[in-house]
Amino acid sequence: MTLRCDLIIRDATIFDGTGNPRFKADIGVSGDRIVAVGDLGAATAEREVIATGKAVAPGFIDAHTHDDRAVLCGPECMLCKMSQGITTVVVGNCGISLSPVRMTSRPIPPLDLLGEESWFAFDSFGEYADRLARDPSPVNTYALIGHMSLRVEAMNGDTQRAASDKEAEHMRKRLAEALSQGASGFSTGLYYPPNMMAPTEEVIAVAEALRAAGGIYVTHMRDEANDVLLSIEETLKIGRAVNAPVLISHHKCSMPENFGRSVETLKLIESAALKQKVDFDIYPYAAGSTVLMPHRLRPDVPVQITWSVPHPECAGRMLDDIARDWGMEPKAAAERLTPAGAIYFQMDEPDVQRIMAHRLGIIGSDGLPHDSYPHPRLWGAFPRVLGHYARDLGLFSMETAVRKMTGQTAEVFGMTDRGFIRAGAYADLVLFDPATVRDGSTYDAPTTVAEGIIETWVNGRSAYVYGAGATAERAGRLVSRNGA
Ligand code: CU
Ligand code: ZN
Repeated sequence: MTLRCDLIIRDATIFDGTGNPRFKADIGVSGDRIVAVGDLGAATAEREVIATGKAVAPGFIDAHTHDDRAVLCGPECMLCKMSQGITTVVVGNCGISLSPVRMTSRPIPPLDLLGEESWFAFDSFGEYADRLARDPSPVNTYALIGHMSLRVEAMNGDTQRAASDKEAEHMRKRLAEALSQGASGFSTGLYYPPNMMAPTEEVIAVAEALRAAGGIYVTHMRDEANDVLLSIEETLKIGRAVNAPVLISHHKCSMPENFGRSVETLKLIESAALKQKVDFDIYPYAAGSTVLMPHRLRPDVPVQITWSVPHPECAGRMLDDIARDWGMEPKAAAERLTPAGAIYFQMDEPDVQRIMAHRLGIIGSDGLPHDSYPHPRLWGAFPRVLGHYARDLGLFSMETAVRKMTGQTAEVFGMTDRGFIRAGAYADLVLFDPATVRDGSTYDAPTTVAEGIIETWVNGRSAYVYGAGATAERAGRLVSRNGA
């Protein structure tokens, strides 16, 4: 009997997600799975795609996102990701998650990166998961629970202090409950003022819930500048204390006086990796983006405004220009702009490349989907790694680039049957042109679609087609650690 598939992609150059050399083959898909990889000359399908001269990779996994709300908003909201070939997003990073907390007034920064209070409407992760099941996203969602969200709930909004033992115990229970309802890990954002007040012991007490559940600990560390080494030690200590794998978020060495120090940080992480599970994610840019923090401005770090509640017209402009127009110091102008978001040009390109090329590094966008003038990483991170860094600069092979966006990422997070092209895996796929793929978004035009990403499939369904945009499919699912 001849094989009959829903979809066959023929004569593709395959990057299978393992980092092994590319090869030519056909891929057969039935339902939500890849059913065959090889010469499918005898097989037939509902739809056939001739991919001669083009490449197919596993759908990219965005290791670091703030898409908690965007995944609830339908296909248009996820166009920025599907147009990069992304099929799975990890939400709940940097201590910020939409659940489990209900809010009645504007969330304090950086929780407001996800929106105003009406979005924080999920008493439990289970309710959030139900909403995703009822009203599916076009991409798969893998969820972390944020320390800051837990703190706001457990401490009744009074978060500018360390939690009491009782409050930490409440957070631990809420985290354990979320992990039992399909969340996969715990994230902290100890860098941010309200969370800075949490001592290591508080984090360990809450993270204790990870031990029994086998969850992952993910952190935007307390300090990515002068004390970056101390912060890495703290992160490793937390992981060891609760026997959890750790993932350092958007690893960087921030501020000019720390440029070049990735040599030290990578050495420290490497030696720790011999004794405990530790990895890091990185976005491929030398500028970061988060909320605007007037007290942290420095004259040697240029700042571009990404949104402002009182002055939306300032989005996209440089803070120095706004301050000059207003006839005031940048700090005073920043205070007038808040609540607001910003891009900070605070990294060194050689550090970015050294960290990205390291074998423990995986790719995450850290894109901020609700910013009116977002950092270009939201629309461009993945094609930028493939085009600019792998093909044009030769920082690593395209096989390695794909591995850092797929198979390696799936392994770090414990995703089952995703991140690889092989029979039996989920049919999360991206068809792209290795000769032309590149990011289209820039600091001047941040929402431009990538070039060379031709089509994206999620669980066997076509989710994005270049030129046509997002399809109406909503085939995404909740993906959990070591689960289906
Ligand atoms: Cu982040
Ligand atoms: Zn962060």
